[in-house]
Amino acid sequence: MELKPFYPVSDKAKAHSYLSEHDYKQMYQQSIERPDEFWAEQANTFIDWYQPWEQVSKVDYHQAQIQWFAGAKLNVSYNCIDRHLPERASQTAIIFEGDEPGNSHHVSYQELSDQVNKFANVLKSRGVKKGDRVCIYMPMIVEVGYAMLACARIGAVHSVVFGGFSTESIKTRILDADCQVVITADQGMRGGKVIPLKDNVDAAVADCPNVHSVIVVERTGADVNWNPAIDVHYEQAMAQADSFCEPEIMDAEDPLFILYTSGSTGKPKGVLHTCGGYILYASMTHKYVFDYRDGEIYWCTADAGWITGHSYIFYGPLANGATTLVFEGVPTYPDASRFWQVIEEHKVNVFYTAPTAIRALMGLGDELVNKQDLSSLRLLGTVGEPINPEAWHWYYEVVGKNNCPIVDTWWQTETGGVLITTLPGSSGMKPGAAGLPFFGIKPAILDADGNELEGECRGRLVLTGSWPGQMRTVYGDQQRFYETYFSQYPGYYFAGDGAKRDKDGYYWIIGRIDDVLNVSGHRLGTAEIESALVLHPKVSEAAVVGYPHDIKGQGVYAYVTLMKGEQGDAGLDSELKDLVAKELGSFSKPDLLQWSPSLPKTRSGKIMRRILRKIAENELDNLGDTSTLADPGAVDELIENRLIR
Ligand code: WT7
Repeated sequence: MELKPFYPVSDKAKAHSYLSEHDYKQMYQQSIERPDEFWAEQANTFIDWYQPWEQVSKVDYHQAQIQWFAGAKLNVSYNCIDRHLPERASQTAIIFEGDEPGNSHHVSYQELSDQVNKFANVLKSRGVKKGDRVCIYMPMIVEVGYAMLACARIGAVHSVVFGGFSTESIKTRILDADCQVVITADQGMRGGKVIPLKDNVDAAVADCPNVHSVIVVERTGADVNWNPAIDVHYEQAMAQADSFCEPEIMDAEDPLFILYTSGSTGKPKGVLHTCGGYILYASMTHKYVFDYRDGEIYWCTADAGWITGHSYIFYGPLANGATTLVFEGVPTYPDASRFWQVIEEHKVNVFYTAPTAIRALMGLGDELVNKQDLSSLRLLGTVGEPINPEAWHWYYEVVGKNNCPIVDTWWQTETGGVLITTLPGSSGMKPGAAGLPFFGIKPAILDADGNELEGECRGRLVLTGSWPGQMRTVYGDQQRFYETYFSQYPGYYFAGDGAKRDKDGYYWIIGRIDDVLNVSGHRLGTAEIESALVLHPKVSEAAVVGYPHDIKGQGVYAYVTLMKGEQGDAGLDSELKDLVAKELGSFSKPDLLQWSPSLPKTRSGKIMRRILRKIAENELDNLGDTSTLADPGAVDELIENRLIR
């Protein structure tokens, strides 16, 4: 396989694209020189408003105050459904592909409308009003989309919790947002395994006295525990519901949803997005980043529990009247050709997935891909972590047959939509680089002291100025919003990533520079994993770092110090890993756990994570300055017993 550093825009991509290279440059220039004029024009193009805004944007990073289109009125579900009905009532909105092959069906825009309207009425009948928070803990079935849009229709604020999260994680999220209604399913099915969603919710709501309704969708029909005081049978309630619900008129700055994400300290943050700016940014990026054309079949493999699922399975595509595929399963069930079979079966044109999935499938050989007909593919995308050039080339050559551009999209839960990528018809690709800023996005690279660097450089990635899809606050904690993103480098939004910029202005994301890990594209806070470990009575202290992992990108490496007199053994090793899985979900489970009689600390008691990272990576030549350590002997002991050599 020949590894080329640059791939120019192909004629095919140019012919399909909305924008030429010249258009991109011109539009980008306009977007940063006259942003309010630019965004007003886009807002009028992409979104149907009941009433216009008073002011396009009002942003003050020093106060962490961000507003877009305040005073304007709209409803997001109207924009995703009602306005399409005159032309698209019978067009497929959602293609569902179940966990088991053969379980698939289409949902038209008319049917989507009926289901969402009914669901909105069901929520209303349970007393849900504008501004109330609703927790959604569901498998990847079409009802998760109905639930989100039903909330949007009545102005309720949804908080989707990933179906792989544990009881503890659901509980903390329900309590943090004071959700009083939970929407779930009896069970989930993923990769042939049953996920006891209702049981997990029951255990969580036992400690959530304000939850008055749990709406249960039937997925497997299993006999689940039933609490008649709060449990609501979804199918029965829907059968009685009216199929029209007047959309609630929302201000552009009214909340649309909360989505929790991990940070470097403390408990997960409730990232809050609002109606107007978010739906504009999600739909506009979906159209241009994927060059999405009417009638195409679009598939993003994310889960609704992540921002990618929010913006690029449901909100962006549906606002554009697209056909979006919802996949319940995993890439390797019943076997590792599942993705390629689904692409062939549904003639998928645009395919958007994560580097970790690409690496896992790449390792299984080309045969599984080649035996499927992938000729429908036009464009490929990746998201979640930097893609290594080997995986990029495999994706490009074996999956895309050298014929599909790849968009490597850099963004975050906080950003609402893609900020950096190469637009397929406008800019050539460099494997491993995310690329160029989207319209209205002004990235900058700072040195450690906060000085902006010019030209080719490497440092901290920040953004100057706002964009409509930006988060507005941490739910219930405006101070934390300010401190996390705006206090370190005043006047900038600090993303937490390191990056370099090359001579052509392309951005290459290096990875998190805070104590956040990226494991299989999932964002994990080391502090949360450490807190889970020290819950065990035998553990006195824990420190968690990442180490390079072939498939997952990063793996979780935990150093654990036991209470005096305790002994580490295989039994305790798995007990501790299971404890983390129970507290935080299985993907937070440490891959490696090293018993550490003591941890390297500064004289002021701060754990020297830099050294722990080096030991975990087996990079011993360059341990850096250890002179400030309280007990340099601790390091020798850790090196001697390291788990990767
Ligand atoms: C972090 C955000 C945005 C949806 C998925 C993750 C990393 C994301 C890329 C990319 C390199 C990437 C960053 C970022 N990341 N996309 N294309 N190249 N790194 O959302 O959980 O909020 O995580 O994911 O480190 O800060 P998230």
